[in-house]
Amino acid sequence: MDSKDTLDFIDSDQAVHALKHEELVGLPTETVYGLAARMDSEKALTQIFELKQRPLYDPLILHISDIEMLKDLVLDFDNSTYSTSLQLAEKFWPGGLTLLFPKNPKYVSDLITADMDTVAVRMPYHPVALDVIRKVGVPLAAPSANPFKKTSPTTAALVKSYFPDLKVIDGGSCEVGIESTIVDAKDKNKIRILRPGMITAEDILKALEVSSLKVTHAFDQQGPGSMKEHYQPQKPLFLIQGSNLSSEDAKRHLQKNLEISFLQKHKLNERLHVLRINEVHLDSNPLLCARHIYRQLFESSQNSDLMFINWNTATYNSLAWQSILNRLEKAALKNIVI
Ligand code: TXA
Ligand code: MG
Repeated sequence: MDSKDTLDFIDSDQAVHALKHEELVGLPTETVYGLAARMDSEKALTQIFELKQRPLYDPLILHISDIEMLKDLVLDFDNSTYSTSLQLAEKFWPGGLTLLFPKNPKYVSDLITADMDTVAVRMPYHPVALDVIRKVGVPLAAPSANPFKKTSPTTAALVKSYFPDLKVIDGGSCEVGIESTIVDAKDKNKIRILRPGMITAEDILKALEVSSLKVTHAFDQQGPGSMKEHYQPQKPLFLIQGSNLSSEDAKRHLQKNLEISFLQKHKLNERLHVLRINEVHLDSNPLLCARHIYRQLFESSQNSDLMFINWNTATYNSLAWQSILNRLEKAALKNIVI
């Protein structure tokens, strides 16, 4: 990858200009970088799917800069069934929470929602994202700025490595590091988490000041946002899950699982004796782990043939860790549970 100095980034004003003229822009948010387009440009929305090679059945999140923008996006905004969602919005916006609302078909196209009746909306807190959305004046549709099924980028340079010709704003490294939590709170008695994130079920219950609410984790089911192979890094990743394994133990389990068929498929068997195996060391604090994990996977891919993570089931057991595990299990080519 080029060093940062040789990469060409754009500033917020140039991004606003490009977005207004229906171009795509790599946009920093606090979770991951987005591939942004104005929501009312069919041309730009179509380009998102083409550039990412993303199937049209996978809907997009709309990003807003103030709550006023939400009113046009959802059906019958004053409907009392929105009260739980709005309570969550008030508590967690701006931030890494995406909420589902019944969509207003007058403003929200089927291209955005993949023909579904609901629209996913988020207000990011990254100041550059907020500034750009505000200045464009309409919500921005933005999936993560990576080719379909690949790891989301958490720096501007990573976006460029995927899409060299894309106009990208360099807004620094993403503070959260994994994608937003997606929540369906239309039915307050059955709140569903469609994609776990660093805002956890516990945080949600606390915000609503209830203890007995049913929170369903819908993210293991098939459907949008829950595909099995996702977040794949450039090199094969093995996830070794065990209790307090040493690095040597984990590596031994990995080697035991390196079948000939796998090696042949990945054209690694000829070089077996010089196979470069990297351990990706996780930060012991889940917030820092999430912040760094995608960049670590990218960097480790640069100088390895395959990578492994030694996942300590004894200590990585909070909900925040579970959200990280959700991403790693999908990123991993093989998940070895000891
Ligand atoms: O943190 C994030 O959410 C990042 C930043 C850029 O905001 N965006 C992001 O977008 O992760 P994307 O497209 O990579 O992932 C959004 C997921 C998709 O898997 C999509 O299926 C799901 O959200 N989604 C979008 N609209 C939905 C809807 N109406 N119902 C259910 N799932 C939806
Ligand atoms: Mg994505």
